[in-house]
Amino acid sequence: MEILNVKDLKIEFNLSGHRKLHAVNGVSFSLNKGETLALVGESGSGKTTTALSLMKLLPDNGSIVEGEILYKNQSVINASAEKIRSLRWKEISIIFQGAMNALNPVLTIEKQLMDVIMHHDHLEENEARIRAEELLKMVEIDVTRLKQYPHQFSGGMRQRVMIAMALACNPKIVIGDEPTTALDVMVQAQIFDLLERLKKVLELSMIIITHDLSILGDTCDKVAVMYAGEIVEYGEVQDIYCHPKHPYTQKLLSSYPVIGGKKALPESIPGIPMDMTQIPVGCKFAPRCHKAMPICFEEAPIQKVENGHRYFCHLGGESL
Ligand SMILES: Nc1ncnc2c1ncn2[C@@H]1O[C@H](COP(=O)(O)OP(=O)(O)OP(=O)(O)O)[C@@H](O)[C@H]1O
Ligand code: SF4
Ligand SMILES: [Mg+2]
Repeated sequence: MEILNVKDLKIEFNLSGHRKLHAVNGVSFSLNKGETLALVGESGSGKTTTALSLMKLLPDNGSIVEGEILYKNQSVINASAEKIRSLRWKEISIIFQGAMNALNPVLTIEKQLMDVIMHHDHLEENEARIRAEELLKMVEIDVTRLKQYPHQFSGGMRQRVMIAMALACNPKIVIGDEPTTALDVMVQAQIFDLLERLKKVLELSMIIITHDLSILGDTCDKVAVMYAGEIVEYGEVQDIYCHPKHPYTQKLLSSYPVIGGKKALPESIPGIPMDMTQIPVGCKFAPRCHKAMPICFEEAPIQKVENGHRYFCHLGGESL
């Protein structure tokens, strides 16, 4: 059952001197109950902006200028302030990018969890304390650690606390914005295992944002690859891994080492990300694309669809 549908979303940021930065340019995707979608792409491609818009949490200078976001078939964009308050954290919640480093160093983990619970769920102190214990158990941390401070927790444990906070109000969708960045590979795997278990037990849907396609493994069902504010390729995880059609996805997949695989060295993607204040004609990836042809600099590619696998490229989709 579909619970989220994003259609042709466009988001701009106002900059000084009446300039506009086109952060998200026509993004469409959907999410079913119990499904995990990965939003993948390099820095600045619009992943966080897309995620924040789902909860109407864009910074003041950002606005949705076109498109639609439907949560359970109801418009998020046109929802009243009251509706949005009941959507945030209770229906859709987010583990913010880098938030584990923003825990308050002078408050215990218990206090910080209780503050979140009391703020959003309006529970009494005693009830909030019981809920904080439940949440800590859920993220597999011993409840005796509730009285400790963030500096007594490892990075992985602090990230578990952030996951607990995101789960505080029983949301249906959890967004993890780079939930394992800055953690070592073993801890990354543990956090993904935990998210997978929680997803099953709590019947959650998830959106996982990452730079790194290689860490998604068995966690995701669908992948949306973003470049310069657009989803350039979208499909089932197996199709994206085994038959990537877009040259950017192909490069992204080869830019990470394959353990035990045939590639000795990861490849880099030449060039620099696009200046998002100037939208060029043609394909946005053309200046960096190893397969670019003259038409790529003149005409934007139209979408091609093969069994639900979508991509924007003038080429027919030669695989790696
Ligand atoms: N408040 C803002 N004002 C102006 N530009 C912004 C603002 N927030 C983001 N941007 C710009 O919007 C674009 C998309 O940013 P966003 O943070 O969504 O990218 P991202 O894919 O999440 O990158 P990263 O992987 O580095 O987190 C970037 O060009 C960024 O500089
Ligand atoms: S349209 Fe052209 S430039 Fe763009 S990704 Fe395809 S081949 Fe490369
Ligand atoms: Mg981001």
